[in-house]
Amino acid sequence: MLSYRHSFHAGNFGDVIKHVVLTELLRYATLKGKAITYIDTHAGAGCFDLRSEHASKLNEWEQGVGRLKRGEFPELETYFSVIDEVNPDGGLDFYPGSPIFAQALLRGRDSGKLFELHSRDCETLTETMAGDLRFEVRRFDGFKGLIKQVPPPSSRAVVLIDPPYEVKEDYDTVVQTLADAYRKFPTGTYALWYPVVERSRIDQMVAEIRKSEIRDVRRWELGVKPDGTGGMTAAGMIVLNPPWTLQDKLDPVMTRLAAVLGNDHAGFAACDVIAEE
Ligand SMILES: C[S@@+](CC[C@H](N)C(=O)[O-])C[C@H]1O[C@@H](n2cnc3c(N)ncnc32)[C@H](O)[C@@H]1O
Repeated sequence: MLSYRHSFHAGNFGDVIKHVVLTELLRYATLKGKAITYIDTHAGAGCFDLRSEHASKLNEWEQGVGRLKRGEFPELETYFSVIDEVNPDGGLDFYPGSPIFAQALLRGRDSGKLFELHSRDCETLTETMAGDLRFEVRRFDGFKGLIKQVPPPSSRAVVLIDPPYEVKEDYDTVVQTLADAYRKFPTGTYALWYPVVERSRIDQMVAEIRKSEIRDVRRWELGVKPDGTGGMTAAGMIVLNPPWTLQDKLDPVMTRLAAVLGNDHAGFAACDVIAEE
């Protein structure tokens, strides 16, 4: 039974770090000539109406993307330009999901495989991506789908793994899936999003990655309040085979994002190496 709906959370601070990092990964991957495959294991509905009943219930976006002033983040021009594309009348009525960021950044020769298990969200995503022949949407388990897709024919890929973590097994499944995918396709760029609700679960996940054969892993995390103070206090992206430019690009901007998105001056940004090259 799938109860998680991303429409309640779209545009929150967890989405901001996820999509800022994803934008950078896709921007870098599409600088070079050869085709890439984008694989989104948990793609969601595609685009989110911030005025909908779901989004207005918690208005999480107001503490996330709603706090960002474009002029303060000139380095995030690409991220904001994708948000503009879904808000042609200006303002911020809609927030793009990961498939829309990919759609905006992929070139004609690139392709995307999008997995989404929730029937309604998969239907919405299929409608949203209809007509864009670069993308294939499948109602299928994204963990299993990823293993089937790697290595891709293009031999270059950016993979986003973004499960809801509603079932605790997800914390184990993500590491197992990463290790299995890495074994089949060690040169892909993989990004794993995680929420910090209980810090011990993330520490455990990171320890398991360290114990695995996976190499060249970095992590970026954005916190809005101290650990253990209720709900999701931080969110992060663990990136395998990050482009060499990523750290220089992200580190300064993450610190400023943390200052804007943090509550009561408790925001923090962290970057560390989980496994060396
Ligand atoms: C955090 S949301 C994804 C948000 C999306 N990546 C974005 O950035 O816009 C997680 C999604 O995974 C879907 N889901 C849950 N389990 C899944 C599975 N095993 N395979 C594929 N999708 C799944 C949920 O229905 C939900 O839409």
